Amino acid sequence: MSLVFVLNLMTPSKMERKDFLNKLTGGLAFTCVACIMQACSKDDGAGSDSGNSSGGGNTAVLLTVNLSNELLSVGDFVARSGIIVVRTADLNVVSSFTAFSNVCPHAGATVTYIPNSNSFNCSAHQSNFSISGAVTGGPSPSGLVKKMLVLSGNSLTVK
Ligand code: FES
Repeated sequence: MSLVFVLNLMTPSKMERKDFLNKLTGGLAFTCVACIMQACSKDDGAGSDSGNSSGGGNTAVLLTVNLSNELLSVGDFVARSGIIVVRTADLNVVSSFTAFSNVCPHAGATVTYIPNSNSFNCSAHQSNFSISGAVTGGPSPSGLVKKMLVLSGNSLTVK
């Protein structure tokens, strides 16, 4: 009712009102199509951006271990370049290894692997972590940061 009143005020005759409504409807339709196309283009951009950034972020090699002369037995570990890698099973498959950042989540001190207990310890304030990286004691507010492993032949890569 109020829209009709406004249209009556804005348009001087019935013929012009019809033209006005056609233009108004066409304008709204154009606006909606433009909004939909803009939304689609934003989705496309976000998809390709996230693909590029995750690919770049996940492909950085932090450490490479040669399994022909390292990590030969269960319990063997390598600690270098800020990473600790432990062999947890016999088979040369990726699930036979686990890798973590050696940075303690509590205050950033260096965590070490303790073979006798198959666990990790931070001597700064005595946080302890299981072989899965979970906190088992001490002030650490969270577990160790797990790293991704890729196995290719005898080359175990930590990313
Ligand atoms: S920095 Fe590791 S327990 Fe505090």
